[in-house]
Amino acid sequence: MNDRRRKRVVVLISGRGSNLNALLHAAIDPAYPADIAGVISNKAAAKGLESAASHNVPCVVVSEDDYETREDHDDAIDETLRSMKAEFVCLAGYMRLLSPAFVKKWQGRMINIHPALLPAFKGLNTHARALASGVRIHGCTVHFVTAGMDEGPVILQAAVPVHSKDTEETLAERVLKAEHLVYPRALAMIAQGTVRMASGQTMFTGSEEIADPQIMISPGMRDKARST
Ligand code: GAR
Repeated sequence: MNDRRRKRVVVLISGRGSNLNALLHAAIDPAYPADIAGVISNKAAAKGLESAASHNVPCVVVSEDDYETREDHDDAIDETLRSMKAEFVCLAGYMRLLSPAFVKKWQGRMINIHPALLPAFKGLNTHARALASGVRIHGCTVHFVTAGMDEGPVILQAAVPVHSKDTEETLAERVLKAEHLVYPRALAMIAQGTVRMASGQTMFTGSEEIADPQIMISPGMRDKARST
């Protein structure tokens, strides 16, 4: 039988927390299938902790400075997740590599948002690299977290155009708006069970597997098509 209970989700952050905020807002709706049950930050100064507190969501700071090794730090995070009874974990601007043992424990139940259309632009400074490379379409990806950094199977992506006058800041702003749209949607999909990870791949069930038939055309191409 389908489990319609709201799933307990804990969000890991390191900073601003705008994606956390998008998830908190989505979860205000009682029909949303996930409940943000807690927030863990590895930085005491993370601004996102204020958003969590304003939604009365329990927050815990687990600083890497208090642990000798990455494994010890991740063990402490794992314990905190279990104490919060987390069923799923969302990485939302959590800017620290996770140890393979931790990733294995949560594999299939942990997702991340990355500010690029993976597999393009893994790692940091994605907007600057997108601009430097000359791509005309950029975007963001929600994916399951696996051992390889930014390598897990993709759940959802959103594309935005790159304008010729874009700076790193204007492009980042456009991508961030897309992030705030797709992250709550991707979390809803895993909480409802319409998407799951199996054999290292994303498996879709129900209508979610039917792709939107629209094709996004990068800026410039449409004008050219019109003029011919
Ligand atoms: C977001 O753009 C997120 O995609 C990115 O950090 C930002 C966090 O912003 N994550 C990564 O780069 C992970 N590789 P936020 O704290 O306002 O959500």
